[in-house]
Amino acid sequence: MTNSKLNIVILAAGKGTRMHSNKPKVLHEVGGKPILAHVIACAKALQADKIIVVYGYGGETVRETFAHENITWVNQAEQLGTGHAVQQAAPYLDADAQTLVLLGDVPLVDANVCKKLIEQANNKLAILSFNKSDPTGYGRIVRAATGNVTAIVEHKDATEAQRKIIEVNTGMMAMPNRFLTKWLSQLTNNNAQGEYYLTDIVTLAVAQSIEVVAQITADEWSVTGINCKTDLSQIERVLQSRIAQKLLEQGVTLNDPARLDVRGMLTCGRDVEIDVNCVFEGNVTLGDNVKIAANCVIKNAVIKTGAQIAAFTHIDAAEVGANSRIGPYARLRPGTVLQSETHIGNFVELKNAQVDIGSKVNHLSYVGDTTIGKNVNIGAGTITCNYDGANKFKTVIEDGAFIGSDSQLVAPVTIGKNATIAAGSTITRDAPADALTFCRAKEQKSIMGWKRPVKIKPS
Ligand code: UD1
Ligand code: MG
Repeated sequence: MTNSKLNIVILAAGKGTRMHSNKPKVLHEVGGKPILAHVIACAKALQADKIIVVYGYGGETVRETFAHENITWVNQAEQLGTGHAVQQAAPYLDADAQTLVLLGDVPLVDANVCKKLIEQANNKLAILSFNKSDPTGYGRIVRAATGNVTAIVEHKDATEAQRKIIEVNTGMMAMPNRFLTKWLSQLTNNNAQGEYYLTDIVTLAVAQSIEVVAQITADEWSVTGINCKTDLSQIERVLQSRIAQKLLEQGVTLNDPARLDVRGMLTCGRDVEIDVNCVFEGNVTLGDNVKIAANCVIKNAVIKTGAQIAAFTHIDAAEVGANSRIGPYARLRPGTVLQSETHIGNFVELKNAQVDIGSKVNHLSYVGDTTIGKNVNIGAGTITCNYDGANKFKTVIEDGAFIGSDSQLVAPVTIGKNATIAAGSTITRDAPADALTFCRAKEQKSIMGWKRPVKIKPS
């Protein structure tokens, strides 16, 4: 292993015509984040001293997307080839460093494989290759009888014999910068495509008696670039099946590993069970014994030990306390924090609601900007009216309160400890503790002999 500094150059100037999209290719998402974000994550995992991204098409949007990252951006206004792309980065390379070249459209790039490549590039040129049964389109690795690599020949420049070679160039390579800067200045575009090929540095190295090593990888997906929506969908499935496999290995029960989507980071405790068609986005943590039923969408959430989430539940930026039961068809929106043993039932929407231990909102309710104490029961159809059309106000429901069905609590309003609100009440002022408060039409009337309307027969 060398101790020299590491520069990583990521080539991302390609237009991605075959995506048929107005969005730059490297911003299309795999596993919930841009393709390029995966490559940048790999570069960071390798502890690069400098990450240089060569961008072109849609450049400003690409830069804005990664504004929070420490990246040296280099514009390649005209795409004259991979060699030309690296030439644009040359002024930013550190003289005493090594460079690893990565491709911005290869999201499953493997940091361990890159690490080995960097280690091999000590005083050498190390290229990463793989064996492809149909090598059409790829640069071929040409080896001498001794096995030594002598050249990379692009498909369009290759002879019939060379086209039969199945060992192909991944595009990833590593070398000391003192060699690279010299080779870059020696590239020409005298070839079938009139491009400056980065791959020509192999012949330059050989001519200068610098050893070239080709490391062959068996993991084709980790070197596969995305050029079209079919590639994108295939890589997505590969990533998802790898994530599912890891979860299974950790002991998570997945009813069907092929019907799970993790678009971010899912952390699971012991004896977690996840039924089919669940989507996890952002950072989600599931505690021990958590059960997620089918068709749930869960984003940036913490779900604690023993909680059960029934089918078709949506959770976004919320916390669910231990042993709570949520859903089916519940919606927890941002700012919602449920303590343990809470029950949130079907067709209940909670937004910025803090619910204390043992409280229940079981049917058809909207509860927003509300604090609910311990052991509160919110009857079916209760609505907190938190919005007057211009401003939002808070509702406070203290411990032990019972809200009768179909009540409206017009905020700002406080329901006192152990208060009872009669069904069908519209509460506009604070309700005192321990009392029954109701607010409905004074009398209950009955009209005797009243007849239901009958359907008029067409004449
Ligand atoms: C290149 C290699 C080929 C290899 C193949 C693997 C060269 C000459 N050929 O082929 O040996 O088998 O990758 O996929 O290097 N890019 C730029 N600026 C440019 C041209 C390309 O940034 O001017 C970027 C693209 O965005 C892409 C990468 O470089 O991320 C590779 O370019 P692409 O055109 O896909 O590869 P080929 O030149 O066909
Ligand atoms: Mg090309």
